[in-house]
Amino acid sequence: MWDGGVTPLRHGSQGILAALTAHRDQDMNPVDLERKLQHFTRYKLILNRLYPGQPLAAGYLLAIRDYVKKIGLLSKSGDPTTEHSIKSAPKPTHRNIEQGLALFRGKAACIRCHHGPSWTDGRFYNLGVDSSDPGRAAISLLEEDRGRFRTPPLVHLSKTAPYFHNGSAANLETVLQHYTDGAGEAGRIHLNPEEKQALLAFLRTL
Ligand code: HEC
Repeated sequence: MWDGGVTPLRHGSQGILAALTAHRDQDMNPVDLERKLQHFTRYKLILNRLYPGQPLAAGYLLAIRDYVKKIGLLSKSGDPTTEHSIKSAPKPTHRNIEQGLALFRGKAACIRCHHGPSWTDGRFYNLGVDSSDPGRAAISLLEEDRGRFRTPPLVHLSKTAPYFHNGSAANLETVLQHYTDGAGEAGRIHLNPEEKQALLAFLRTL
């Protein structure tokens, strides 16, 4: 969860259940989900086959967990600190991408927060994306955490638009524009257009 209420990557289907039920996420309860699924013959067939003897709602959560595992967001142990980081390390095949990685580590200093397995430090920052959302403060009850959100992992970035906790950045160009305008606790980046292109090329390899 963006506010750190649950760490879905570490807790597997438990985190997915939290995302399903959270008021500001899907706001669904398992009883209603079970009732809804009963109306979908195709889902019923598939879920009963894959997860026999389980309520449909449980099968649904397990199916999402298994899918997330398959696309590599969850390692097999449910612990993101293992194999994914190795796989996600980009191979610098192109000069542009290599320059992008150098900027990510150096001049743009993205690595300050996006580092380690899956490129996240797991900490919370206020990047000024949306001042109306309490973010981490809703969990920690600390005023200083107002508007802070967990540094997201940077994985499969080219397929996970829109970006930021509220989906307000439609594409990666908009994300970089936000960092250029001064992204709160992340500070401001100063890149020329060519450097921005290189950084984008690198981000698209993640
Ligand atoms: C101070 C820590 C920090 C720094 C430095 C930082 N980020 Fe972030 N990044 C975050 C946080 C926190 C978010 C989530 C903000 C939100 O949604 O409110 C985020 C979100 C993102 C996202 C959106 C991912 C998604 O799935 O929605 C991308 C892409 C990203 N950062 C790339 C970068 C790049 C590129 C740089 C360097 C120019 C950078 N970040 C520097 C903390 C940081």
